[in-house]
Amino acid sequence: MPKKLRLGVLGGGGDSLIGVLHRVAAHMYDSYEIVGAVFNPDLNHNLAFAEQIGISTDRIYPDFDTLIEKEMQLPESQRIQVVSVLTPNFLHFPMAKKLLENGFNVICEKPMTTTYEEAKILRDTHKKAGTVFAVTHTYTGYPMVRQMREMIKAGELGRIHKVDARYYQGWINPIIHDKEQRGKVWRLDPKKAGISSCMGDIGVHAFNMIEFTTGLRIKSLLCDFNYLYDDNVMDVDGTVLVRMDKHVKGVIRASQVATGEENGLAITIYGEKAGFRWEQERPNFLYKLADGVPVQLYKPGHPYNSKLSLDGTKLPPGHPEGIFDAMGNIYRGVARAIRKEAYNDGEFPTITDGVRGLNFIEATVASHKGGNVWVNLD
Ligand SMILES: NC(=O)c1ccc[n+]([C@@H]2O[C@H](COP(=O)([O-])OP(=O)(O)OC[C@H]3O[C@@H](n4cnc5c(N)ncnc54)[C@H](O)[C@@H]3O)[C@@H](O)[C@H]2O)c1
Repeated sequence: MPKKLRLGVLGGGGDSLIGVLHRVAAHMYDSYEIVGAVFNPDLNHNLAFAEQIGISTDRIYPDFDTLIEKEMQLPESQRIQVVSVLTPNFLHFPMAKKLLENGFNVICEKPMTTTYEEAKILRDTHKKAGTVFAVTHTYTGYPMVRQMREMIKAGELGRIHKVDARYYQGWINPIIHDKEQRGKVWRLDPKKAGISSCMGDIGVHAFNMIEFTTGLRIKSLLCDFNYLYDDNVMDVDGTVLVRMDKHVKGVIRASQVATGEENGLAITIYGEKAGFRWEQERPNFLYKLADGVPVQLYKPGHPYNSKLSLDGTKLPPGHPEGIFDAMGNIYRGVARAIRKEAYNDGEFPTITDGVRGLNFIEATVASHKGGNVWVNLD
C-alpha cells in the first residue's frame, strides 16, 4: 500500500473553525494526502479554497453526492480511502451513512449525529461495512489525558469516588442577548445542531472524557439547563449530576455563557488513593493529588509515561504538546487501523463513543424537560 492514505474532506472550508485542525493533524505523521473534497456548498468558494491551499481541483466536487458517485467510478487504487466529515452536525448522519454504505473509512466530527436513533442506525451500518470509523473527541489525543487513563487503569487511584468534568466557554454571551444575532448561529438552530447547543457541542466532550479516563460508564443523570431567554429553544448552560458504576458519582458542568471563559475544559477524578486533575488550557500538566504529600506533576515525553501516552509525543520533554498534536495522534491511530497495523486501545474514539454521546445528549434534554428528573442511559 502507498505510504499516504487518500483522504477526502467534507466541510472544513476556509470559513470554518475546525478545518485547519484536521488538515494539520492529517499531515502531522505523513500518513494522509487530501485528494478530494467538498470544502463548502458553494462550488466557486470550494475551488478557490482548494487552489489557495494547493490541492488539485480535479476532484473538488460541487456536493457530497457527486463526490461519492465520481469516486466510486474510479479504480480502487485511486479512490478516496477515508473521508473526514467536518460539516455542521445535521449533515454528519446522511454523509457518514452513505460513505459507510459505499465502503469508505470515516473520520466524523462530534456529535456523531443529531439523534440517538440516527447514531444507532449508523452503528448498524458500520457493522455491515466493516470499515474504520472514528469520532473526533479531540481531547482524548493529548498525551497527558492518555497517561491519566492508563494510570487509572493500572489502579493508581484505587477505588474511584467522584468525577468532575467542566467545560466552560463564554462565546455565546455577546450573541444570546440579541435575537437577530442568535438567528445567524447554526449551533443555536435545532435544525442544524440537533436538540442541544451546550451539551451537544461541549458537554458531550466532558462526558466522553469521564468515560475515556475512568473506563467506567455513566448509568444515569439529572440535568438542569439554562436557556437564558424564554424564546431561545437551545440550552446554553447546564449542570448534570451523574451516577456511574460502583457508587461513583459526579458532575458535568458545561456553559457557553460563562463570560470570559475560552476553552475551559477540565477534568478531575478522585479516588481512594489519590486524584488526577487535567486542564485543557494547560494540557502538558497532569496533577496527582494525594493525602499528606505534595502535589505531583506528570509531563509528556518522560519514560515514566505509558506506551499510549509516549506514542503521542513526538519530541523530547519540554516541547509543549497542543491541540494540533492531540488531533494528529487520533489521525495516526486511524491510519494504523486502516492499514491493519497494530495500534493501542484508546488511540481513537470509535462509533461506540459516538453512540454513547448521543445517548448522553438526549438523556440531558429528557431530564431537563421532564422536570429535572433522573434518566437512565442504555
Ligand atoms: N472536536 C472538536 O473539538 C470540535 C471543535 C469544533 C467543532 N467541532 C465540530 O466540527 C463540526 C464543524 O464545526 P465548525 O465549528 O468547523 O463549523 P463551521 O460553521 O465553522 O464550518 C462548517 C464548514 O462546513 C461547510 N459546509 C456547510 N454545509 C456544507 C455542505 N453541505 N457540504 C460541504 N460543506 C459544507 C461550511 O462551508 C464550513 O466550511 C461540527 O460538527 C462541530 O461540532 C468539533
